[in-house]
Order: sequence, then structure tokens, then C-alpha cells
Amino acid sequence: MKITILPGDGIGPEVCKHAVSVLAEVASAFEIYIEADEHLIGGAAIRATGSPFPEETEAACVASDAVLLGAVGSPEFDHLLPESRPEMGLLKLRKALGGFANLRPAAAVDALIDSSPLRREIFEGTDLLIVRELLGGLYFGGPRGFSSDGEEAFNTMRYTVDEIERVAHVAFTSAQGRRRKLTSVDKANVLETSRLWRETVTKIAEEYPDVELEHLFVDACAMHLVTDPTRFDVILTENLFGDILSDEAAVLTGSLGMLPSATIGGAVDLYEPVHGSAPEIAGKNIANPLGAIASVAMLLRYTAKNEQAALAVEDAIKAILNEGYRTIDIAETGCRMVVSTADMGTLVASRAIEHANVKYAYHAV
Ligand code: IPM
Ligand code: MN
Repeated sequence: MKITILPGDGIGPEVCKHAVSVLAEVASAFEIYIEADEHLIGGAAIRATGSPFPEETEAACVASDAVLLGAVGSPEFDHLLPESRPEMGLLKLRKALGGFANLRPAAAVDALIDSSPLRREIFEGTDLLIVRELLGGLYFGGPRGFSSDGEEAFNTMRYTVDEIERVAHVAFTSAQGRRRKLTSVDKANVLETSRLWRETVTKIAEEYPDVELEHLFVDACAMHLVTDPTRFDVILTENLFGDILSDEAAVLTGSLGMLPSATIGGAVDLYEPVHGSAPEIAGKNIANPLGAIASVAMLLRYTAKNEQAALAVEDAIKAILNEGYRTIDIAETGCRMVVSTADMGTLVASRAIEHANVKYAYHAV
């Protein structure tokens, strides 16, 4: 399996480095052959080549089975227009790979429930999956730009039936593998794109009679996420709504640093933690690598199609947290087991391999 690593900016390189070590160790324990290569994206690529998504990066990515990305974005480029910023590298990457369904799971981890901004009794038992449409809407719709006098700016929210249908199928199928409830989120009381979204999702639902479908307006969804998060199973929504709701869902788990994502449906799968480049803590060896490491677990599940290896990583993360290890962002006051980015990576890797060995021993009997 060929994997392209794009460390990117800020804490991207550190979290990627440790996620890749976990991947290397787990892959070898499960006898998965992996060939990995690193390339530039985002601000790092602008500095070296002038472009946030150089041609050679694109060529390497489209020739691989999966891409693992750290993060992009740097205050150094804040003065640039959207078109030439580091973030544009990520949008071009997403387009080039073709994945339209971005899966962002957020679940309560027992060991971290008291780090959630929500009270235990509200958050306990939360286990949801956001399916965010990733290639349409305001991010990619045209026309976009500034008027010639700079006094006006515009973006276009656009969706076709095909774009809605294909992501809806991913969401319904995901719900079938979970608690069979799908919440489709839109703003159909105001937006035409949302009317089309709602009609199309309702039509696709006929093919999935075993899944219960509800529609929610995005503002109500944002509210329910903090008042009653356990009511959700799968949330399906368009690109920008999904961007916003997934940060909200992520922070409920205790830290934005914890959550992974997988983008599937295209020629090449893309894995990236939900968090950003966090430039203020970059290079200090304190960032939480668990979002990136959990993204590796998703890679093992969806691209390598090795559920056992994915579970080994996910179980290792839970075990390490249960033993009390914390990076600073998830440490309770007075916590004595605060570890660095590197140590957290090593701990998870060693625990994941133990799981692998236990499974081998079991099969051998
Ligand atoms: C995300 C990020 C990106 C997005 C940015 C960096 C372009 O916030 O993956 O959620 O808006 O999609
Ligand atoms: Mn975001």
C-alpha cells in the first residue's frame, strides 16, 4: 500500500511523525506492507516552491492509495488572499483526490468525560458520526471573488442532485452499521440549496427503510449538540455546516486534538485530524497526537481494510487514556501523568503492538 504523508504546517509535522511511527509499527505487526513518502503542502510548500500545492505533491498523492495530512495554515500568510493561502493547498488536494464524504466521528471516552465542557450526565454515552460533504457548497462553488472596486465580495453555494445523492448514500450506509438513525442538517427555511438537499435526502431514504431519518435546521442542530448530544447517531450535512458542527462536536469530547477524520468516495482516500495547525504550540512537543493517530486507525479500517489493526490502535488509545496518560490539552488540574507528543506516540504504538501480539497468540491456539 502506497501512502503519501503531507506534514504541512504548525503542529502538523510533529503529530504526523508520531502517527506514522504508530502506523509503521502496527502495519508490521499485522503484516501490512506500506511504502510511505513525504511531500510538501500548505505554508511549508509556499516557502519552498511558491505554491501551496506543488505539482510534484499532487503527482505523488494521486499515485498513492491514501494520503495522511497533518495540518495546514500559518499566520505568516494571513495577509494573502484566499487563492494563494496555505488552506488553498488543502482544498486543491481534496479536489484532486476526489473524496466527497468526510467522516468525522466524535464519541465520549470514559477516561476524559470530566474534560468535556458539558456536564457528565449530558455528555456520557455520546457517540456520533458527522458525514460532511467535502467537495461542494461555498468552498468550491462559483462565481466567487471581489468586485473590481473591492467594495463587494461574493461566494456561491451550489449543489447538484448527484453531489447530494452520493454523500447521502455514504451516510445511510454508515447509519446501517451503527444505531440506524440519520439526522440530515440544512437551512431549508432559507436556502434553495437546502431545499434540494432535503428533497434529495428524503428520496434516497426510501432505499434505506431500516434507517430512521430526521431533518434539522443547522441552528437547531448546533443547539442540540450541546444540550442533548446523545440524541445523535449519524449527522449528514453540507460542507460549511459540517466544518462548523464538527469543531463543535470535537470540542465536546474534551479537546479538538482528539478527533480524526477520513475522506472517502474518491480515487484516493484522505486522512487528517480535525484540528488545525495550532501555530502557538508548534515545535514544543506538547501537541496532542491522538487525532492524527486515530486517523491512522481510520486508514487501517477504510483503505487497508484491516479492522483488527484499526481496533488495535483505537483500543490502545483508550487503554493509554485509562491508565491516566495525558497531553497537556486534556490534562485535569494537578494531573501527574502529563506526557509529550513523542511519549504519547510511543505509548500508543507499544500498546497497539501488544494488542496485535495478543491477537496472534489467540489465533495460534
Ligand atoms: C477542516 C479545516 C479546513 C476546512 C480548512 C483548514 C480549510 O477547518 O478540515 O475542518 O475548512 O475544511
Ligand atoms: Mn474546520
